[in-house]
Amino acid sequence: MPTHLIYSSTASHAMTRAELQTILEDARSGNAAHDVTGLLVYVDGVFLQILEGERDTLTSLVSRITNDTRHRDLQIFYQAEVAQRVFANWRMAFASASAQDLAAWAGLDSTTTLAATLQSLQGRPGQVPQVIVKLLDTLAAD
Ligand SMILES: Cc1cc2nc3c(=O)[nH]c(=O)nc-3n(C[C@H](O)[C@H](O)[C@H](O)COP(=O)(O)O)c2cc1C
Repeated sequence: MPTHLIYSSTASHAMTRAELQTILEDARSGNAAHDVTGLLVYVDGVFLQILEGERDTLTSLVSRITNDTRHRDLQIFYQAEVAQRVFANWRMAFASASAQDLAAWAGLDSTTTLAATLQSLQGRPGQVPQVIVKLLDTLAAD
């Protein structure tokens, strides 16, 4: 059964497009080798990453990602088995979203800060699947 693992982390500095591109290339080559799929979101210096794969694979991947100096304060806040992958066609998709988008998708007032939205999702994991669906819509619209 595939597992979803979601974490947030703080970028070590404001990422340029080129730096984000390099991270995506690193992610895609690593994920192709380990049958991992997912989505990376970068909002205002914060990464939000949804990883999909076998549980043990994700555990070792996350410990590798945790040691990456391009970000810090990695916090896993959601882990659940899923019947099927949501991002099956993406070795690592990239979505841009604003802090306002994320707040609205989490059912919060759009003036809620990014930190408060993340905190709310951590406290109410039941909200996470609806945010995932919205992120998927964002990709489909691209
Ligand atoms: C925000 C972020 C997300 C990343 N996502 C992945 C990923 O999904 N898969 C992956 O293999 N590496 C990912 N990486 C890169 C890893 O941290 C690491 O650089 C890469 O796996 C190579 O590791 P190695 O040098 O130990 O082989 C990510 C890095 C960052 C900063």
